[in-house]
Parts: sequence; C-alpha cells; structure tokens
Amino acid sequence: EAHRRLFGKHVLITAGPTHEPIDPVRYIANRSSGKQGFAIAAAAAEAGARVSLIAGPVHLDTPPGVERVDVESAREMMAEVEKALPADVAIMVAAVADWRAADTAGQKIKKDGSGAVPPLALMENPDILATLAQSPQRPGLLIGFAAETQDIVEHATAKRTRKGADWIVANDVSGPKGQSVMGGDTNTVQIVTASGTESLPAMPKGQVAAAIIDRIANEIA
Ligand code: C5P
Repeated sequence: EAHRRLFGKHVLITAGPTHEPIDPVRYIANRSSGKQGFAIAAAAAEAGARVSLIAGPVHLDTPPGVERVDVESAREMMAEVEKALPADVAIMVAAVADWRAADTAGQKIKKDGSGAVPPLALMENPDILATLAQSPQRPGLLIGFAAETQDIVEHATAKRTRKGADWIVANDVSGPKGQSVMGGDTNTVQIVTASGTESLPAMPKGQVAAAIIDRIANEIA
C-alpha cells in the first residue's frame, strides 16, 4: 500500500549541527536548525520505516514513531550511528562540524584583561558519511547532503564519488536564499545520483522530505 512503502526497512538519519566544546560554556558549530533532517525522519516513519534519528542539539520535537538519540559532538554522533547499524538506508543530513578544539578546557577560559587571546588549535573530526561508506555494514543506500553556495551540481557530483555516497542531495545556500534555507521552512534541492541530476523546485521542507522518501522507496522497493 502506497503509505507503507518503507515497511520493514530501517532508515538511519543524522540531523542538526554538532557542538564541539572549547570549554564548559563555549563551542564550535555549523548553522543548522535540524528542520530538514527531522522532516525526512517524519516522512520515513510515515512511509512505515523503522527510523533511527541521531540528532545534534536542536529545538525540535521528535516526529511520531521515530527513535531519537540526542548527541552533542561529531564523535558522539559517529558512535551512535555505528550503534544503530545495520540500516537499509542512511541519510546523513547533519551539518557536522569539520573540526573540533584539539584541547577542551575543564574550566571556563577567563579573559585576563590584557587583551591577549587564547590560542585555539583545531583537529579534524571523523567524517561520518565517508566512514559509513567504507564500513563492512555500509547501508545499501547511502545518501549525503551538501550545502553549496556555487557550482552546486559540480561540487555535489565530486562529493558523491569522494565520499562514496550513492546520492548527494545538494541544496543552494547562496546569498539571501541561504539565510532562508538555514532555519527557514523551504528548501531548493537537486538530487545527484550515478545516473544524473534531478532538480526539484523550491518547496517546504516537508515536501522536500516527501520527495526524497518517494525516490528512496522507488529505489529500494
Ligand atoms: O563535505 P561536506 O561537509 O559538505 O559534506 C556534507 C555531507 O557529509 C553531509 O551529508 C554531512 O552530513 C556529511 N558529513 C558527515 N561527517 C562530517 C562532515 C560531513 O557525515 N564530519
């Protein structure tokens, strides 16, 4: 039946930003509301899938029927993703911070009034999407997202092969559109696969989610 097209499938989704602590009160993060990832989780659950949603710090309610695990950092997100395997489909929507502070201070770093600034050394975070692509438990359909500001399809196509994903959903966050995408309720995406690119019109994030779930159901049915 049309509404249960993902019945029996396990869909694993990451969403939101990660927070990488500098000290107990400060962190590094990417801009992400989590709305698109949560909308995809909701649509997957509506389609009858078992949904594991690994969420960074966001202010959103858990969609009905979704199993949610909250995390803070990229390394925690990576660990929870691995715990949730195996999955038939993984959709990595989270805006994971590429770098974390090399050292995390146990106490709040204080201004000493001299105008001196503390050094901030960074180190690379694990790439969850690329790690999953190499995993012995690689999901049968592995989907990444790519927020781009220019040459969207070219960058997404390169990212698809570089990270070993099956599809990359690219969204245009350039200019004033970017401000409305991040935190906003509409999105304009292009789905890049091995066989080409499908451009969807601008639409509410719920409709983008439904369109992506529809393409997934067509692919794995
Ligand atoms: O390279 P970029 O960060 O633009 O790639 C975006 C895609 O990779 C998204 O699907 C995002 O969730 C995923 N990603 C990840 N782990 C990272 C960085 C990005 O899973 N450390």
